[in-house]
Amino acid sequence: MIDPDRLPNHIGIIMDGNGRWARQRRLARSAGHREGLNAAKEIVRAASDIGIRYLTLYTFSTENWRRTEEEVSFLMKLIETHLKNEYEFYRSNHIRVVHSGDIARLPGPIQREIGSVMRDTEHFTGLTVNLAINYGGRDEIVRAVNRWRSSTEGERDLAFDESTIKSFLDCPEMPDADLIIRTGGEQRLSNFLLWESAYAEYHFSKKYWPDFRTADLVSAIEDFQQRTRKFGGMDPEPENTAHQPAGGVL
Ligand code: IPE
Ligand code: IPE
Ligand code: MG
Repeated sequence: MIDPDRLPNHIGIIMDGNGRWARQRRLARSAGHREGLNAAKEIVRAASDIGIRYLTLYTFSTENWRRTEEEVSFLMKLIETHLKNEYEFYRSNHIRVVHSGDIARLPGPIQREIGSVMRDTEHFTGLTVNLAINYGGRDEIVRAVNRWRSSTEGERDLAFDESTIKSFLDCPEMPDADLIIRTGGEQRLSNFLLWESAYAEYHFSKKYWPDFRTADLVSAIEDFQQRTRKFGGMDPEPENTAHQPAGGVL
């Protein structure tokens, strides 16, 4: 059972395994991506129903351009069509859509669709879905530093600290990630939310993304709720110290 008072505020998902899902069924990789989009819609709806505030979906990485031209153009078309068709889906669920990543290097039609879905949904106060398209964690930090540099217009000796970087990230209002889920069996970050995941908890699922269902999201959140987060400090729960040997250690 999920404890509604201890929900992760921001969940990030590395939606991996579409290609292997398709191969397992002797289908083209594109079929896996299409099915992956259906899974994403189910998970967005579920996150919204559970009461999650922020959900970042790793949709296309800065490294995914290395794939074949056929795969890249299929993915771009799928993303464009999704953005065009899903306003009603986001509206009926009161979902606000934002974007992370280098938008300037995306095809024009996708740039326009991202702009219009963000504008159309900006007044919604439910779940915020952050679509990470052409996103790379290192690239986000580099762009943040460059934006800061141009905003200072050559002024020297200005204070520069963690909050400076944070305020120039793609979505500065988004809190750090609390929980990062990766499907597909790999246990790596693949350049996802590097800055924002400094103290995230991780949940790895062996399921391929198209097979990931609401029940799997619920299990990931339950798993998260079992963890003791310390942020470098000491155990916040006094009852956990009750198991120390009599006399204590210190
Ligand atoms: C994730 O699935 C989707 C994207 C990266 C766009 P993959 O396409 O990486 O699937 P696998 O890892 O090859 O199975
Ligand atoms: C991460 O998956 C990117 C997305 C899910 C969009 P990849 O399939 O690109 O990651 P690697 O190559 O296995 O690290
Ligand atoms: Mg993959």
